[in-house]
Amino acid sequence: MIGGGFMGKAHSNAWLKVNKFFDTDYDVCLKVIVGKKSPLEAFAKRWGYEEVSYDWEETVSRADIDIVDIGTPTFEHMEMAVAAAKAGKHIVCEKPCALTYGQCLKMAKEAKKAGVVTYLNHNYRRVPAVAYAKQLVEDGRLGTIFHWQGAYFQDWIMDPDFPLTWHLQSKYAGGGPLFDLSSHAYDLARFIIGNAQAVTAVNKTFVKERPLPGAGAATFSAGAKDDKAQKAAVDVDDASFAVVEFENGALGSIQTTRFATGRKNYNDFEIYGSKGALKFNFESMNELYFLDATQPQAEQGFRRILCTEGVHPYVSAWWPAGHIIGYEHTFVNGFYDFLQAIAGKGLPLKPDFNDGADIIRFAEAVKLSSEAHRRVLIEEIK
Ligand SMILES: NC(=O)c1ccc[n+]([C@@H]2O[C@H](COP(=O)([O-])OP(=O)(O)OC[C@H]3O[C@@H](n4cnc5c(N)ncnc54)[C@H](O)[C@@H]3O)[C@@H](O)[C@H]2O)c1
Repeated sequence: MIGGGFMGKAHSNAWLKVNKFFDTDYDVCLKVIVGKKSPLEAFAKRWGYEEVSYDWEETVSRADIDIVDIGTPTFEHMEMAVAAAKAGKHIVCEKPCALTYGQCLKMAKEAKKAGVVTYLNHNYRRVPAVAYAKQLVEDGRLGTIFHWQGAYFQDWIMDPDFPLTWHLQSKYAGGGPLFDLSSHAYDLARFIIGNAQAVTAVNKTFVKERPLPGAGAATFSAGAKDDKAQKAAVDVDDASFAVVEFENGALGSIQTTRFATGRKNYNDFEIYGSKGALKFNFESMNELYFLDATQPQAEQGFRRILCTEGVHPYVSAWWPAGHIIGYEHTFVNGFYDFLQAIAGKGLPLKPDFNDGADIIRFAEAVKLSSEAHRRVLIEEIK
């Protein structure tokens, strides 16, 4: 496991749980946690890693490592993934895949050459209600899809004194919500209704400069406040709103922002089709709302489906019906699929680095559209 931050914790928890709840061909053993500067000995003890290392290059080529899990900021994904593939390791990598379409293609190419399994952790696909929404669409229950409305809203950087962490610098993050949140929102759209073919978008930055980060500044955390901290320019979007034309003929939108007052992790989609409609919001992640327009008109309405029955995807591994699951379960579900893929079982694992490339290609198209003030075809991005 490379990176002992927010994702290091979420992934370590999932690795510990996957063999407890799912039957797999492998017993996962947490060998090494790799950090950068801050000591990780306490982290290793808490999560049960056998060793701590501060040298990822040496660690990924060790003979006793089978899986490399990359939970570092986005700018480091490509170099780490390529090294892991060259060393013949199966790879889990956090989203967004990398900084550019070209970097993602390189990751996919090296993984293919090495014949390793790659899993890009767009974990919201592994919410049972989301996977069930896909089933309903695939079964034709919505008919022809006319609209996809995807919105992913947060509010954790609204304070203009929130520091310039790596998330707010394009050299580390690629972009603002466009890379961080639209990558998830577009992954869900692709998963359920397919690829985009064109975008028309506007990105906006509300706070143009921010104080440099002090001790403890991290994802969702401002750290220690320093009134004398120097300020530097913000070069990423604070919000990204895109009108999306899909290959299947649907017209939709992907709107993401970190300036949606009161919205914490509001990952939301609505789908409208000729035979029905669906609505999902991660803040009530066990629920899916379904309107079946083939029912008698007088009885129609959005039905709340509590997706906690054993028949819903992944649920049979967890608790009896009605005993809801949470954020952390999505990581466990994903790692189960990853282990199955390594064992050659199940469908090809998605999303992988090729999907990651398509997602960053979309993000680059959104960026170009906003900068050039015009509609951009996805195929323009080479
Ligand atoms: N799937 C999700 O929903 C989700 C949520 C949050 C973050 N992420 C993604 O996960 C990645 C990490 O985000 P985070 O929130 O955990 O960040 P974070 O800042 O909390 O943690 C990153 C960790 O990586 C370590 N690190 C950085 N460079 C390193 C190196 N060269 N060697 C070893 N360790 C190194 C840092 O010391 C830090 O502990 C990002 O790509 C982010 O987009 C995904």
